[in-house]
Amino acid sequence: MKKVKLNELKNFSAKALETVGVSKENAETVADTLVGTDMFGVLTHGTKNLSGYIQKMEAGGLDAKAEPSVICEGPAFAVLNGNKAIGMVSACKAMEMAIKKAKECGIAYVGVKNSCHFGAAGYYANLAAKEGLIGLSMSNTDPVIAVPNGCTKAIGTNPFSFAAPDGNGKSIFLDIALSNVAALKVIMAKEKGMDIPDTWLVDKDGLPTTDSSLFPYNASLQPMGAHKGYGLALLVELLSATITGAGMLSEVASWNLDMASTNNVGHAFIAIDISKMMPKEVYKQRVLQMVNELKNAPKAKGKDKILLPGEMEWEKQETALSTGEIEITDAHADSLKALSEKTGIEINIY
Ligand SMILES: NC(=O)c1ccc[n+]([C@@H]2O[C@H](COP(=O)([O-])OP(=O)(O)OC[C@H]3O[C@@H](n4cnc5c(N)ncnc54)[C@H](O)[C@@H]3O)[C@@H](O)[C@H]2O)c1
Repeated sequence: MKKVKLNELKNFSAKALETVGVSKENAETVADTLVGTDMFGVLTHGTKNLSGYIQKMEAGGLDAKAEPSVICEGPAFAVLNGNKAIGMVSACKAMEMAIKKAKECGIAYVGVKNSCHFGAAGYYANLAAKEGLIGLSMSNTDPVIAVPNGCTKAIGTNPFSFAAPDGNGKSIFLDIALSNVAALKVIMAKEKGMDIPDTWLVDKDGLPTTDSSLFPYNASLQPMGAHKGYGLALLVELLSATITGAGMLSEVASWNLDMASTNNVGHAFIAIDISKMMPKEVYKQRVLQMVNELKNAPKAKGKDKILLPGEMEWEKQETALSTGEIEITDAHADSLKALSEKTGIEINIY
């Protein structure tokens, strides 16, 4: 494992994006998103992917200079065309619009088409929570999950997140893919030659398998909670892609297998202004009551703590902020160092 200072990582990320033509403002937005995700401990979806996004800009699959534009808009909704801009730029703009509109109307939806991998869904849901609103954030992806009774990759892992103010300046937030486990976990088991539980994959016949070596070409991921995760993944597809005009299901290609191709995923963001429904103080008292009841519920044998969704991430963020640095894997460090050599922008990793 290696370490890197937060401020260096942020400056490096923004400057590296500027070398391929991303505006200063957008580069800072992307850097904030990726480093914010790293600080939450979601290292798979932060700056680890920076070099991939830059490669995709160089190959033409993303347009470094693009700005999202409005396709249609009403007081409580909008649909944006991402115009092939990097996903974080469109996602932040869309959630900011949803927040603004929700502050007027109580609730607002903003969808995006013609976008690309937006990283961790939770970052955007938390933009709303930071403003005292409840935020929902989601995206469709290329298909990797077999649906119940199916035997091929039919629907994406379709990340979904909600964040709600917790009454103490942070949020309760869930940020998940809708597969039973992340593909990365299967790949790690495969690399170690390990069998996996039979709830992770189905084989070419659509039957559960414990053989991790079959993934990705001869096996598909199982949805989270069988038909339940499938149904939620379909909701994400509807809100992110079907009603925005983005690519649906098999129309979406993997963002990083063919860097020259456009990805055309869609995203959806919903913001709810709680203060339109009840005074902020009443919400605070009610959410704290809910949290207390959950945290004080009787514990399972051998367990002494019940966690809230998001609690682990906020603890990791606190550690990152108090030390001013984060720990990254060697592979993550190597990818940043390679990008540093390519762009000539220095970064100190120790
Ligand atoms: N952009 C994309 O295409 C894409 C695709 C898939 C996943 N993702 C991202 O990958 C990341 C990881 O997804 P994942 O499905 O592996 O997440 P995961 O299974 O690690 O679950 C993480 C969530 O569960 C909560 N959690 C974990 N243990 C808990 C407990 N004991 N009690 C209460 N809450 C608990 C965490 O606080 C967090 O909200 C997410 O950020 C997701 O948005 C992105």
